[in-house]
Amino acid sequence: GIMSSLMGFPQKEKRLSKLLGIDHVLIVSGNSDQQPQVLHRLGQLLNSTLSMLLPDGRNVIAAMGGTTMAAVAQELTPVLSKDRQLLFVPARGGVGERVDIQANAICSQMAQNTGGEHRSLYVPENVSEQTYEPLLKEPSIKPVLDLIASANVVVHSIGGAMTMASRRHMPTEVVTKLQQDHAVAEAFGYFFDEDGQVVYKIPRIGLQILDLTEIPYVFAIAAGANKAKAVQAYMHNAPHQTWFITDEAAANSLLKGA
Ligand code: BG6
Repeated sequence: GIMSSLMGFPQKEKRLSKLLGIDHVLIVSGNSDQQPQVLHRLGQLLNSTLSMLLPDGRNVIAAMGGTTMAAVAQELTPVLSKDRQLLFVPARGGVGERVDIQANAICSQMAQNTGGEHRSLYVPENVSEQTYEPLLKEPSIKPVLDLIASANVVVHSIGGAMTMASRRHMPTEVVTKLQQDHAVAEAFGYFFDEDGQVVYKIPRIGLQILDLTEIPYVFAIAAGANKAKAVQAYMHNAPHQTWFITDEAAANSLLKGA
């Protein structure tokens, strides 16, 4: 009814945050698997939530890539820059996906839409440790890594393990290992099984999952019934202060599976 569409879904949000073991859940109506505009609603909700929550002054926002993040980025507005200086940085290295959904592109779009600034990180995906060790000291990379380490906000999505493995063109032996280990979720380059155990990690630089505990504002944004399983698995690792922004379809599917 009209009230529930104005008020959101307070009861479901409460039940879901309890189920997932995190502090905050926000639900928008619809199913993003069928209605792409739902992803934009997630972005609008992120915009209003950030505008309410973020402290005045300087905020360093680390963002991940992906199609969800790309849609969300389009919905941020200059309201966020009122009394604030925003600096967007890609949360991890990882040039390798389609250019328009790379974290660098997302950060640039977010900066443009809010009137903030952004920095890029140019580090290829899947390079050996010997290759990227010296890169960490590069004058074009080190300052960005320092900024990432100082982020007070993180915004990321969660993907299905196999979807992400193929989208990233991961080597066959890794895909086989992911299958053997029953990987179902991916976030930040980490792959998780149903119980939230890390079964594989892409060796990339930047934010690590353990760093999240120290970050005051963490937003996980993932929607569509298809993502329920991945969300459930990832949330075993989510820090309690996480805000999970999702749609009704994912929420219903998660609650049904409980
Ligand atoms: C990737 C992120 O770019 O997007 C992943 O690096 C995330 O951590 C994934 O899981 C989700 O993608 P999408 O397209 O489903 O939003």
